[in-house]
Amino acid sequence: MKSTAPNHIAIVMDGNGRWATRRFLPRVAGHKSGVDSLRRCVRACVVRGVAVLTVFAFSSENWNRPKDEVSGLMELLVRALSREVPQLVADGVRLHFLGERGALSGAVRAGLERAEAATAANTSLILNVCFNYGGRWDIVQAANALAERGEAINEQSLGAAMQLGQVPEPDLIIRTGGEQRISNFLLWQAAYSELYFCDTLWPEFDEKALDTAIAEYGQRERRFGKTSDQLRAPATSQQAA
Ligand code: IPE
Ligand code: IPE
Ligand code: MG
Repeated sequence: MKSTAPNHIAIVMDGNGRWATRRFLPRVAGHKSGVDSLRRCVRACVVRGVAVLTVFAFSSENWNRPKDEVSGLMELLVRALSREVPQLVADGVRLHFLGERGALSGAVRAGLERAEAATAANTSLILNVCFNYGGRWDIVQAANALAERGEAINEQSLGAAMQLGQVPEPDLIIRTGGEQRISNFLLWQAAYSELYFCDTLWPEFDEKALDTAIAEYGQRERRFGKTSDQLRAPATSQQAA
């Protein structure tokens, strides 16, 4: 299936736990398999010319999970970072972490910083990993940053102070795993994103599933509050309308 890829895709990578439970495996095995799925998805996005991929890896609410699952996720992140960075560099992927770093351990923080520094010069794809991220937290931290600097709070300044302030808003937000909710992901930036939900569990989300989502996105009409007629009208008559 071929269609023009969105410039910025965001994904709620959900369903790792259920994938593992169905196989009588511990939930952390699902998260491990989820890393493989992310690697495949990043490659696919590079090939398809996607400029920005933003993924939800750990929410501010995920701290409420059992302790062993949380520590398993932290260890997995540190190990994945040291293993994956050389290939990310080879593929031209620039890593960037979004979220509150203060609550992370020194080892995790150091891992994030090392990976960001090692990939800083890459230009093929920006990979934003939301880790200890919450959309509400993002809005509050942006407002606080502006207040501290004594700057006016308006839509433009607040948007620019958010964690994704330097990239265009997501065109397409995909959620795997069957749930149809945002779960405190990009609350501000999702204002006009196209939403796509699928039942596929994240470890099973492959290139074909990505292409199906992109093809569906290609069928959507993004009106941004206008009418269909306005979108079809040539620029001159649009001005008159
Ligand atoms: C998403 O998969 C990954 C994280 C939230 C860390 P889940 O772990 O939420 O998987 P399910 O929803 O329980 O299947
Ligand atoms: C959202 O999934 C967070 C991530 C994928 C990292 P959850 O599994 O935490 O969301 P809820 O609890 O089902 O809403
Ligand atoms: Mg889940």
